[in-house]
Amino acid sequence: MTVLPSPSPPLLETENLARVFGAGTNQVAALKGLTFEIQQGDSVAIIGKSGSGKSTLMHLLALLDEPSSGVVAMRGQVVSDLKPKEIAKVRNTTFGFVFQQFYLNPQETVLENVTLPLKIAKVPKAERNRRGTEVLEQLDMGSKIKAKATNLSGGQQQRVSIGRALINSPEILFADEPTGNLDSETSAVVEDLLFGLNAEGQTLIVVTHDEDLAAKCNRQIRIQDGLIIEDKVANR
Ligand SMILES: Nc1ncnc2c1ncn2[C@@H]1O[C@H](COP(=O)(O)OP(=O)(O)O)[C@@H](O)[C@H]1O
Ligand SMILES: [Mg+2]
Repeated sequence: MTVLPSPSPPLLETENLARVFGAGTNQVAALKGLTFEIQQGDSVAIIGKSGSGKSTLMHLLALLDEPSSGVVAMRGQVVSDLKPKEIAKVRNTTFGFVFQQFYLNPQETVLENVTLPLKIAKVPKAERNRRGTEVLEQLDMGSKIKAKATNLSGGQQQRVSIGRALINSPEILFADEPTGNLDSETSAVVEDLLFGLNAEGQTLIVVTHDEDLAAKCNRQIRIQDGLIIEDKVANR
């Protein structure tokens, strides 16, 4: 008897995902029931107008927030079944985050900012600095290792925040408006970086209202008023 291999569950999937903020007359239904799957190696753009629910969705997928109802599962494992400690571990070891606001510590050096996730993961200092230096050199920021984050340009700060997102070699890179605060030239550099990583196999989930950036992804999920109104997958 031959046993067929069972198809592996998707990297991320949602079922009827909903998120309501506030209570009573102040209630806002930010997401109203979203069901979809994301496969390993995908590049997914979540697009929609301001207030449509993009960031809310990213926070749920990145396990930074909990749904009001519905399910997020990772490789078939329902996330709400995990203990908070396990969720934190998944976040620290599997995910990288790039935000529009860089959230750098301005008084710390570039190297200290980039290696923060390793410090949280209790990696010894010598190893942290070795890996931080390596990542910063890849990002063409090797000469700025000792600079204070506050003394960098916007593009340099975003490269530091990308370095921090990459330091754990995350399987999934979440980016929320990663080029939202950058000029077009710097945006192009950041986009090349993100898609270069995706070409190497990293799954990329980008929230954006930039149609050009979205078009570079192999999939576009369009959201309006908390619902998916279009889900387009390109041939790969
Ligand atoms: N923490 C919050 N408290 C109350 N309302 C929120 C909160 N976060 C988001 N919202 C509301 O949910 C809706 C979707 O917001 P968001 O996901 O940030 O949209 P987008 O990222 O597409 O601009 C908006 O109406 C917003 O005001
Ligand atoms: Mg947003």
